[in-house]
Amino acid sequence: MIVTIDGTAGSGKSTAARKLAARLGIAYLDTGAMYRVVTLIALEDGINLSDETRLVAAAGEDFHLDLGPTHIRVTLRERDVTEELRSMRINDHTRFIAASPGVRRILIERQRDIGRRLGSLVTEGRDQGSVVFPDADAKFYMDAAVEKRAERRMHELLAEGEEVAYDDVLANLRERDRTDASRPVAPLVVPRGAIMIDTSTLSIQQVLEFLLEQLVRLGLDVTPHSGIGEHVF
Ligand code: C5P
Repeated sequence: MIVTIDGTAGSGKSTAARKLAARLGIAYLDTGAMYRVVTLIALEDGINLSDETRLVAAAGEDFHLDLGPTHIRVTLRERDVTEELRSMRINDHTRFIAASPGVRRILIERQRDIGRRLGSLVTEGRDQGSVVFPDADAKFYMDAAVEKRAERRMHELLAEGEEVAYDDVLANLRERDRTDASRPVAPLVVPRGAIMIDTSTLSIQQVLEFLLEQLVRLGLDVTPHSGIGEHVF
């Protein structure tokens, strides 16, 4: 079973996808982390963010994704970079990487390969239901008021020890919304057939219940699968 969750930054996709994957006992894929790791490579190597050839080479680099039902860990150059990928520095630059057609081609192929090999997956991003898995068993699109999303993102960043101001987080989200929706390749759109959910006033538990209800309504099997281990790609 492939379940896709797309939507705006900070709408609660990651938390919902993780909870749903854990509840179903299947793997969870955070595709934003893949764009973020390519961003980290580009920044570390001093690559000009409009140098398509070097960006494509960076996307082809051998980073590792360790997927479980409740987490994803990313290893780059023998270093665990999972936490580093969530920093504001990476937040500010990822949209340039995400606009590269060559980078998208490589990462999309990798995402489809993971889907094929695992068979069951909850995957979240901006194009999972529209481009990567158009035939997914269930597709969701999540959104929330931008002020609410900025509040959530700010608390996440503060919890990770990063000093951030609400206004900066809000401005960053507005800019990401604009660029994610207006870029020529794989813009953020509501995938055909997606079920919409506005999480502005919902708790995580309520979101999870809504997702499960919808899977049941679609006739999908929501009994927890056991025995999902770690998968390294
Ligand atoms: O979801 P997350 O905030 O980690 O994504 C970081 C950025 O990566 C997004 O703002 C978007 O520009 C890009 N992205 C994308 N396609 C995806 C996932 C993320 O373009 N499937």
